[in-house]
Amino acid sequence: MSGQGGCSVERVTTATFAKLKADGAPIVVATAYDTPSARLVDAAGVDAILVGDSLGMTVLGYESTLPVTMDDMLRAVAAVVRGASRTFIIADMPFMSYQAELADAMRNAGRFLAEGAHAVKIEGGNDDIRYTTATLVEAGIPVMGHLGLTPQSVHALGGYRTQGKTAEPAAALIEAAVGLQDAGAFSIVLECVPAELARIISELLEIPTIGIGAGDRCDGQVQVFHDLIGYGAGDRVPRHAKRYADVDAVIGDAIRGYVEEVRGRTFPTEAQSTHIDPEELAQAQVIFGAAGLGTEACEEPR
Ligand code: KIV
Repeated sequence: MSGQGGCSVERVTTATFAKLKADGAPIVVATAYDTPSARLVDAAGVDAILVGDSLGMTVLGYESTLPVTMDDMLRAVAAVVRGASRTFIIADMPFMSYQAELADAMRNAGRFLAEGAHAVKIEGGNDDIRYTTATLVEAGIPVMGHLGLTPQSVHALGGYRTQGKTAEPAAALIEAAVGLQDAGAFSIVLECVPAELARIISELLEIPTIGIGAGDRCDGQVQVFHDLIGYGAGDRVPRHAKRYADVDAVIGDAIRGYVEEVRGRTFPTEAQSTHIDPEELAQAQVIFGAAGLGTEACEEPR
């Protein structure tokens, strides 16, 4: 695969996902929503970027993923594509972009691939979702499934809580996972399901499972960029997340330093300034004066 400027980079593909599972090597996925975050995630060696509809909360300030639109996601996907040269890019299909009509699902998934995404992710595992998965796959669009806590169904689930904690829901999750695999999904996210259940599903499936809050026996893990780096989330760390940095503190210190220096007139300094030849400046003042306006204002202290 050829990157910008002609340099060759080995792109992660669905075949890489299958090989990593076969080799028993953990698959690393992180979200990203713009070009700089995609660049950082790509350069850090992550296998795949999920352009998650979690952007509703992490970037757009919504309470849930429900208000996220196709336009929000398309812009984010295009920005991530510009930042990532090696990682596999999965576009999260937003609420109601695939549930109502199969034709919507096809058209909208196609728009993500046209923007440069390599796959789409859709939530749920009922018959309709399996059929949609099979149809997209048939059309050449790789599909990642998403089971367990599916945030687009937060109201139906009664909140953001672990799924599959009792026998029947647990069995239903296993059945849904097998159904999505049979429909042709290349991988399935398992979000907030008990570790033991995630392990059984992971061992049962030929395709890789990617866990978030699903224990350590999934075939890979996915985490939200902002949770990983401690950006914009305040003090609250979700139970399924681990904070590897405190970027909020770094940014806060930087901005406070800027505020202090502007108010103390120690920024900008000579290093951030440019100058005009004094004769050109004098001439400019003459021109300005000749235009009928006085030069006094220019001589005022700033
Ligand atoms: O939107 C998202 O970021 C996700 C992950 C949490 C799996 O769906």
